[in-house]
Amino acid sequence: MTQDEQKRAAAVAAIQYIPVDCIVGVGTGSTANYFIDELAKIKHKIEGAVASSDATAQRLKEHGIEVHDLNNVIDIPVYVDGADEITENLHMIKGGGGALTREKIVAAVAQKFICITDQSKLVKILGNFPLPVEVIPMARSYVAREIVHLGGHPALRHDFITDNGNIILDVHGLQIINPVELEATLNQIAGVVTNGLFARRGADTLLLGTDNGIRIIS
Ligand code: 5RP
Repeated sequence: MTQDEQKRAAAVAAIQYIPVDCIVGVGTGSTANYFIDELAKIKHKIEGAVASSDATAQRLKEHGIEVHDLNNVIDIPVYVDGADEITENLHMIKGGGGALTREKIVAAVAQKFICITDQSKLVKILGNFPLPVEVIPMARSYVAREIVHLGGHPALRHDFITDNGNIILDVHGLQIINPVELEATLNQIAGVVTNGLFARRGADTLLLGTDNGIRIIS
């Protein structure tokens, strides 16, 4: 199977986790896009969706799926999203598409986080993929210096502004042994909106697309 076929297979498998009549939390990225395409096939069975980015909201609407404002929603039984890296402990690096902050908010509200990825995303230690950090623009240099003190090598993501009007620093050179601790440490730097470690609230279930079918890790 190609990487895209694995992503699509994981997205198809996620559909069976969607309860009838619920509002579904929907992630961002190419794997999440496959999921949106599958969700459209059962749109008559759900109430609608909450989107983790403007791009996802647009794709949902194009498929005729109602997009709800999170402020008007109390219960999201399931959030479905991809990841850039994930461990068997279900800790993740996310934000390759720059949507990490809204993804983290929707994931926080959701009862269950179903992560859908191809097999290349499963890693032993997080950090080979540069860790995205969303930063208030005026804090860029300060936050970069603080990250260097922590042993990382931050690089500004060029020509990119998040849906929230902020910049992204992609942090290279980290071997993340304790993702729960690093997630909190980075978030305490003034000017950081959030970082792409999803460890305090990791996934509940990983649906991993592999050459041998879907592997489920819970
Ligand atoms: C976007 C994300 C995505 O989930 C992550 O980048 C994976 O993307 P893809 O499914 O395209 O491989 O966190 O901010």
